[in-house]
Amino acid sequence: MEFQEVVRRRRMVRKFTGEPVSEDSVRRIMRNALRGPSAGFSQGQAFLVLQGDDVRRFADTLESWTVSEDTKAAPVIVVPFSVKDAYLDRYAEPDKGWTDRSEDHWPVPFWHIDTGMAVLLILQTAVDEGLGAVYFGIGREDFDRLRTEFGVPATHEPIGAIAIGHDADAPISAGASPATRRRKPWNESVHFGQW
Ligand SMILES: Cc1cc2nc3c(=O)[nH]c(=O)nc-3n(C[C@H](O)[C@H](O)[C@H](O)COP(=O)(O)O)c2cc1C
Repeated sequence: MEFQEVVRRRRMVRKFTGEPVSEDSVRRIMRNALRGPSAGFSQGQAFLVLQGDDVRRFADTLESWTVSEDTKAAPVIVVPFSVKDAYLDRYAEPDKGWTDRSEDHWPVPFWHIDTGMAVLLILQTAVDEGLGAVYFGIGREDFDRLRTEFGVPATHEPIGAIAIGHDADAPISAGASPATRRRKPWNESVHFGQW
């Protein structure tokens, strides 16, 4: 698919058909997730990829939900994690020199930014594979439950989850944000030369 077509087509897909996602698609999506940029090439990203019974286990583990039962039944769930320690360690190296590992140096949390970039690669690759996907938040109160259930180290912070599957072509539900809000005209947000 043309890149511009991938960008144009990408939207959050919240309902999936029962068709499984091929192993090739899952592997390509996850390989692409690791092709994003990261500050200092810290690569403080990790991913839990869940399919089959593990998706059910994920759904049973979380108590706070921002998506419907349709989305919970996706064939694939990917949970992306930010690993702040990887950044603090990397920037304590001689070429960066923040040996005190203080978080005060960081203008914004680059670990989350880089994980967000990986998420967009996942969403775009899903489109390129002819699939649909939605990114949704996970409540902070679920972090420990999730880590305990799946054996994830305490250093890893889940920044949300991505459900992936074959698009059931459900209409955007009436209450959903894109149904109630317009996309801003681009010159409201993009300023050339002067604000
Ligand atoms: C950081 C972030 C958090 C989001 N959280 C949720 C969520 O919890 N549940 C959900 O259904 N959609 C969630 N979305 C999807 C947005 O609602 C969606 O991207 C927005 O309405 C624009 O629609 P589109 O992505 O289909 O163009 C989230 C998106 C982002 C970027």
